[in-house]
Amino acid sequence: MEHGLIPPHGGTLVNLVVDDARAAELKTQAAKLTTITLGEREQCDLELLAIGAFSPLRSFMDAADFHGVCDRKQLASGLPWTVPITCSVSTATAERITVGQPLALVDDHKRLLAVLTVAEKYPNEKRKVAEKVFRTTDEAHPGVAVTYAEGDVCLAGKLEVIAPRHDAEFPRYRRTPAQTRAAFTEHGWETVVAFQTRNPIHRAHEYITKCALEICDGLLIHPIVGQTQKGDIPADVRMKCYEVLLEQYYCSKNTLLSVLPAAMRYAGPAEAILHALLRKNYGCTHFIVGRDHAGVGNYYGTYDAQRIFDEFDPAAIGIQPLKFEHTFWCRKSGAMASDKTTNSTKEERVFLSGTAVRDMLAKGQRPPVEFTRPEVADILIQSLRSGQ
Ligand code: ADX
Repeated sequence: MEHGLIPPHGGTLVNLVVDDARAAELKTQAAKLTTITLGEREQCDLELLAIGAFSPLRSFMDAADFHGVCDRKQLASGLPWTVPITCSVSTATAERITVGQPLALVDDHKRLLAVLTVAEKYPNEKRKVAEKVFRTTDEAHPGVAVTYAEGDVCLAGKLEVIAPRHDAEFPRYRRTPAQTRAAFTEHGWETVVAFQTRNPIHRAHEYITKCALEICDGLLIHPIVGQTQKGDIPADVRMKCYEVLLEQYYCSKNTLLSVLPAAMRYAGPAEAILHALLRKNYGCTHFIVGRDHAGVGNYYGTYDAQRIFDEFDPAAIGIQPLKFEHTFWCRKSGAMASDKTTNSTKEERVFLSGTAVRDMLAKGQRPPVEFTRPEVADILIQSLRSGQ
């Protein structure tokens, strides 16, 4: 491990990508193996497992980890973990698979990703995941819907990865944990705050990232570019927004843009912990948790994703959460603010709902500059015009 950087979760950065000789062997073998086509979420998870973003996990979870996570928010080893990482198949498919059998895991274009040598098959207790992890069994919840659509049997075993992802998007920004760690060392950053987002960066996001940067050496803007729900702004459009913002409004000496190829789960508090642990693996020491982090609809309270950190030993989490109140533009102070920093009335604050913003953009109108930088608004308007 690099000197001075925060240790990965569990102490060792995992790398499941096999060397060329083993890859050649596995490719020859794979032609004769039963193939399992991974769903989009599983493909995202496989990449994160392969590159060590999910350290200490070395494969899709076995039953002991699965139940530990659902029941106690920890792996069988006792380390904190809040979201199951599973590979599932239908009962019919599972019946044809025996323990000890190697399977070829392929993507939706049938390209080989990895070989999983099955050590265990166990029931995918989806309702338990919904109740314990998502805190709701409502199928209208996008993460619950994805969970319910999974197979009924989970597979665990030794995972050997040949290709974490074929035709990966944003190669320039797709740094592995080893690569972000190397970049931080090169920059001489001892403290780095990570910013998770699935949205374009609006003024509130910009404000909290800059507040955090005031107390850290570096800022990692780390947007999720894996599976998101319909209605979220596509990753390629968001990337254009991040690029223009970084160029115009951030300081290039201490800000790094990189993508996280993870699937969004919209699991609110449970996902906030997962997001923090992932960023620890990428070498970050601090993690921003604002209002309704990773939330959707009204399933979670505004600060539930902050409160969940109190359930853990901070040393076991390792990365420091930086908790931010709901922030907004305050007309009275002529600045971004929160309840902690202004006494202004509701009328003196700029609040816009997601729907209001989308309506304005669809009409070709820029939202107020107090809400979004004009350069970002223009990219969003343009993308809506071109039908993206
Ligand atoms: S998320 O699903 O990735 O959490 P989003 O991209 O909107 O959604 O938020 C990114 C981060 O910014 C999260 O930590 C979220 O809590 C925080 N955040 C978003 N809007 C605000 C706001 N107005 N005030 C404070 N924090 C915010």
